[in-house]
Amino acid sequence: MVLARTGDSQGAHDGLPRTLGIETSCDETAVAMLDGEGRIEVNLLSSQVAAHAPYGGVVPELASREHLKALPWLMERVLAEARGMPKLVAVTAGPGLIGSLLVGVRFASAYSWALQTPLVAVDHLEGHLLSPFLDLEGRPARPVPDRVLALVASGGHSSWFRLQAGAASRLSRTRDDAAGESFDKVAQVLGLGYPGGPQIDRLARSGDPGAVALPRPRLKDSRIDFSFSGLKSAAVRWIRDQRLEGAGETRPGPAVADLAASFEAAVVDQLLAPLEELIVLHRPDLVTASGGVAANTLLRDRLRAAGEALSVEVLLPPRSLTTDNAAMIAHAGQLAASRGIGHDGRRLDAWASSSWQPPGMRKVSSARRVG
Ligand code: KG4
Ligand code: ZN
Repeated sequence: MVLARTGDSQGAHDGLPRTLGIETSCDETAVAMLDGEGRIEVNLLSSQVAAHAPYGGVVPELASREHLKALPWLMERVLAEARGMPKLVAVTAGPGLIGSLLVGVRFASAYSWALQTPLVAVDHLEGHLLSPFLDLEGRPARPVPDRVLALVASGGHSSWFRLQAGAASRLSRTRDDAAGESFDKVAQVLGLGYPGGPQIDRLARSGDPGAVALPRPRLKDSRIDFSFSGLKSAAVRWIRDQRLEGAGETRPGPAVADLAASFEAAVVDQLLAPLEELIVLHRPDLVTASGGVAANTLLRDRLRAAGEALSVEVLLPPRSLTTDNAAMIAHAGQLAASRGIGHDGRRLDAWASSSWQPPGMRKVSSARRVG
């Protein structure tokens, strides 16, 4: 996955196309406009949380229908608030819910065709990886330095990446659940609703992270891959043993706060376990974190502390850009277009699996710039 031009870590971007971004991979419909320096002009989002809440998780068919309803009016508002028309349309083409992706892909293709504007398909992960470089205070996007160590932790992914010489390669992955998925499951059993990460984060602030002993399993064959299912099951067992299932539906007491703090600490320990080794190995200029779990208070605090202790700059996206948004998709799209990447909307399909290799993506052994 090629992300950015190299060697431009000091200067701001210039001459990027003004870009409309569209994101519909899961349960947020998002549309954004970025200017030619990667500055966010408009960044709107319509959440489907309320539509899915009665079912305790995202219902794919419902998600597609909600995207269909929300996209036209979101588009209208973004175009009305933006300072100009787009020169490029960028859309998430995968991975994600296939029906939801198709709504965005077809919508973006039709719009780019009607406007005779180039189209670029973006990998959702690429969007997350670039989100720390965006700014909400009206400043241009920060160029990606030569060597970056990047954590992506969301509801679907938990991986460390290396961004080097403008290309991304995955260094580690979860072998089972994603970090966000485990937050959501534990919150669901506690009756805290979906998505659970923000609720656990809130409760953890008043809990004792040492109160409940939870495992931090390491894999036999890898020091850097993750496993969250054992930790999640241990937390769920503890909740059942203490008869705290659904306790969050009323007023959660101190035991729930203790479990939240203990679980959060264990997940963060897992995510950061390989950090020091990866820093020694890859000597990054910058460490970043993105994806919904990068909104987590403890993870952000611990990452900043680790950066200070290990003398590496840590760059975190503003909380509202950690979760799914279209600004990150627009930025990934405009950087891809500046390398000459584009797609034909008449042939563009959505891809459901993260194993799909977007144009320019290369395995670590052969990471190189293309275009
Ligand atoms: O990036 P995202 O919006 O969607 C995916 O690409 O998956 O991430 C959503 C995930 C959910 O699992 C949610 O519970 C988690 O991010 N999350 C958090 C926090 N805010 C969102 N997890 C822990 N602490 C948070 N503050
Ligand atoms: Zn995401």
